[in-house]
Amino acid sequence: MSIIHNFAVFEGGDGSGTTTQLELLRKRLAGPGFPPFHATFEPTGGPIGVLIRKVLKGEIAVRPETAARLFAADRNEHLYGPGGIVERCGQGELVVSDRYTPSSLVYQGITCGDELPASLNASFPLPELLIFFDLESKIALNRIASRPGRDIYEYADFQERVRSRYKALFPRYKAAGVRVEWLDASLPPEEIAEQVWRAVREMPIVEGGREMTK
Ligand code: TYD
Repeated sequence: MSIIHNFAVFEGGDGSGTTTQLELLRKRLAGPGFPPFHATFEPTGGPIGVLIRKVLKGEIAVRPETAARLFAADRNEHLYGPGGIVERCGQGELVVSDRYTPSSLVYQGITCGDELPASLNASFPLPELLIFFDLESKIALNRIASRPGRDIYEYADFQERVRSRYKALFPRYKAAGVRVEWLDASLPPEEIAEQVWRAVREMPIVEGGREMTK
């Protein structure tokens, strides 16, 4: 399985703080001496991603297997479409995505069984770095309780299964050559941001860029 260099992914259960941390990382990398930075997310803002958001809100009902295929189709555009991950990383941009293949293996693994998401995602390349935001599902659900509406996956027993599936999954990414970093997402956001930074700055694209400005 090939690895996309300059590509990192944030993963975690719902409410684990990945979106907040990606914004903090974006601010940190805005200064001089860093490579061009592109923060992105899945489901994407493209037409398939927009459709998926409707499914997540329960506005459109589809079979779990259909949802699994939609996530994979959205990812294919995200990777290979114009201005996509592969193009940007190839041009020397640092790309960090809020969710990627592990989300499908974990969430759709629960809703459809392991086989379908595994086969739908088998040919997608791996990220260089995977950062997992680990949080007790009780705390995570308390955090998202204040948000308007509830996604179809935002329930305690489902999120508990999400967490244990992530734990079981990451050794496989490690074995495939991905650097996997595990963060305690119950820490204060500034502390998590420091840990994220420690992981990201070790990427050759960040280290190399800093050396050039010395
Ligand atoms: P996210 O955008 O992180 O949630 P929110 O916008 O509500 O903070 O992700 C949306 C949901 O989609 C989340 O519950 C995880 C789920 N998801 C999958 O089930 N499979 C996937 O492949 C992806 C990318 C996300």
